[in-house]
Amino acid sequence: MTGMQGLTGGRELVMVSNRLPVDRVVASDGSSTWRTSPGGLVTAVEPIVEQLGCVWVGWAGNADERIEPFELGQMRLEPVELSSDDVELYYEGFSNGTLWPLYHDVIARPAFHRQWWDRYRRVNQRFAERVAETAAEGAIAWIHDYQLQLVPEMLRKLRPDLTIGFFLHIPFPPRGIFEQLPWRRAIINGLLGADVIGFQRVPDAISFRTIAERYTHTQALGNTLVLPATDDSPGRTVLAQEFPISIDAAAFAEVARRPETQARAREIREELGNPKRMMLGVDRLDYTKGIRHRLKAFEELLTDDEIDASDIVLVQVASPSRERVDAYRKLRDEVEVTVGRINGEHGTIGHAPLVYLHRGYTREEMVALYLAADVLVVTPLRDGMNLVAKEYVACREDEQGVLVLSEFAGAADELNDALLVNPHDIEGLKAALLRAVHMPQEEQRRRMRQMRRAVHDNDVAHWANGFLGSVASVSESRGASHASGLEEGKTGPISIVPQAFVPRSVGDRLRRIATASSLLVATDFDGTIAPIVRRPQDARILPRARQALEILATAPGVRVALLTGRSLDGLAQTGTGTSGEGWIISGSHGSELTGFDVSGVMAASGFGEPTADEAEWLHRVNRRFERVLGGEPGVRLERKPFGIAVHTREVHDEEQSRELQAAAVELGLAEGLHVREGKQVREFSVRASNKGAVLQSIRDALPVGPVLFLGDDVTDEDAFSVLGPDDLGIKVGPGESAATERVPDPAAVAAVLARLVELRTGIVIGSD
Ligand code: ADP
Ligand code: G6P
Repeated sequence: MTGMQGLTGGRELVMVSNRLPVDRVVASDGSSTWRTSPGGLVTAVEPIVEQLGCVWVGWAGNADERIEPFELGQMRLEPVELSSDDVELYYEGFSNGTLWPLYHDVIARPAFHRQWWDRYRRVNQRFAERVAETAAEGAIAWIHDYQLQLVPEMLRKLRPDLTIGFFLHIPFPPRGIFEQLPWRRAIINGLLGADVIGFQRVPDAISFRTIAERYTHTQALGNTLVLPATDDSPGRTVLAQEFPISIDAAAFAEVARRPETQARAREIREELGNPKRMMLGVDRLDYTKGIRHRLKAFEELLTDDEIDASDIVLVQVASPSRERVDAYRKLRDEVEVTVGRINGEHGTIGHAPLVYLHRGYTREEMVALYLAADVLVVTPLRDGMNLVAKEYVACREDEQGVLVLSEFAGAADELNDALLVNPHDIEGLKAALLRAVHMPQEEQRRRMRQMRRAVHDNDVAHWANGFLGSVASVSESRGASHASGLEEGKTGPISIVPQAFVPRSVGDRLRRIATASSLLVATDFDGTIAPIVRRPQDARILPRARQALEILATAPGVRVALLTGRSLDGLAQTGTGTSGEGWIISGSHGSELTGFDVSGVMAASGFGEPTADEAEWLHRVNRRFERVLGGEPGVRLERKPFGIAVHTREVHDEEQSRELQAAAVELGLAEGLHVREGKQVREFSVRASNKGAVLQSIRDALPVGPVLFLGDDVTDEDAFSVLGPDDLGIKVGPGESAATERVPDPAAVAAVLARLVELRTGIVIGSD
């Protein structure tokens, strides 16, 4: 896997998970070694950090063990100590006795204990504090999995400078199940502390957004949740969407290609007595994995003589997991009794049809097992993704082998050329196993080829790219304050998928207008390409949006126009619209215009200086507003070439802000001014110009072609309303609109513009 550098834009990456990627193993003589931790989380995340480097905060796997931070490869590990009570109440209790079964379709019964919850909160707080102490200024904190769902909110309070991503490796349950949790609201609020929340599958993300809307004051807009401002925090958005996880497919293929691995695969088959067919199961010994269902189907096939015990072997690798949790202990007993029964009934002195291995293996041995197996049987009753299925496919460069896969594993979304089964349907499972055993080589090849393509197209680099790319966009939209390590406009070796933020319908419409011989790209400034900030002079265009507009402005047949309510001077204060950008810029809601041969436009819209009458009128208006509203705390009056704007963004009391706006409108109407409503601003003008009129005039003076217009505010509606069916209007954020498409925020606008650049010019703009 290559090309991950650049993903974090030079910021430090802090990984946070319950377990560190390595467990400390203490031998009987007291010496200790480090061993890769169990589970899919580490399999997926480890290759990313090998490339990117990171600080990793987590537990080293034993109770009551204090370990100093240490370096391992590209990582600095920061071990968090867990006492034996923490292990019992937080890890075995709330994490694996409450959340794990609840999130996996209540296959086992979740237990709800207040003491467990209390410890879960305390341990989450400890993780948050540890990250807060450790992370560098402006770092990206990437928190993993169900054990740490409160950490995002806790960490945001401690370190608001960090950008926070959260990824849930297991399913997120449907509302009807999640609602059983007594602490449901706290969990949702905990997660909403993140800027980006990633899930494995589309239904997981939908369920989360629905529940968040029900239990908090958020509003879902596509994949984005909009959080309103409160007394302690400004409003913000949270991206909550699916990012299906994957594996380092090339690394597995490389091990599979080694002659020694292939020799080992042959040896395994010899050790098994060269059966005609070898089936394989590989799982943590977990009740979600459907091992009992698998064994039942296998046993019935033997009993019914559907398969011959001397021809076929099922190797079941079941790695030890959570052995002190009741449901796991019970499962182990049941599985081991079943294995004994099957071999007792169907084995011979020299041959056992079922080989059961309760231990961990090296990567090399796992790959040899995959190569040796004719059929891999993956039958979870519910599974976030299931990486074992993807590993098998990645290893089979020979395009042979059959995957039997549960519909209830996330992997089924991508690997739909597997033999998909409902593991609860034992008859269906038996039929699929038989079909797999007898599948002709040509069919195996066709199916495996398709699945290999899916795994290679979405490998772990693609996953990390999508997730971190979205996190980086958030960091970027927060403005330049934390971007010390950022080089503007630099494109990394892997482009950061701008698609992450472009809704499909917008993508389709962009594709339609992108190739027009003449194209006008027009956009509002504040709240559209520059995030809203408290003081207007502090607003800055997003670097990615600027880069995209600059490229478009020089592309043949494209004109770029900025239509703002600001005066041209007010815009220049932000560092945009100064000079030399080649953009058409209209200020003061269409009353000012620059960067364009205005002759034709002027006649239609009447630009230029205020007339003598207008100037006198303005003078009177300014004095009046100054006298009536100038002394009100929090009110800011902004003089404009053709009018005045009354800003109430800094009035703290909402009710008071509304009253002041109403007072301003009264005053303006009494003066005979044209009034416009904006977000916490009322604008008054001596001229009746608006963005719609100026947009129409500009397009009329250009060759015929479609117009793209992007805007967020009420005053942008004038521009949306002059668009025709072949144009594209995109509203930014919530609120009624005449626009036909919508995106959540300025970062998404930057992604839309970047996509347009890519479609028009082939140039890919990363977000770092
Ligand atoms: P989960 O995360 O629930 O354990 P996954 O299938 O997503 O399930 O990931 C399991 C990971 O653990 C895979 O990378 C698999 O190769 C690895 N694994 C499973 N069993 C063993 C074992 N006995 N020895 C070594 N690795 C194992
Ligand atoms: C799954 C979970 C991980 C967990 C792993 C092993 O992959 O998603 O969060 O680390 O199982 O479980 P354990 O309880 O041993 O850490």
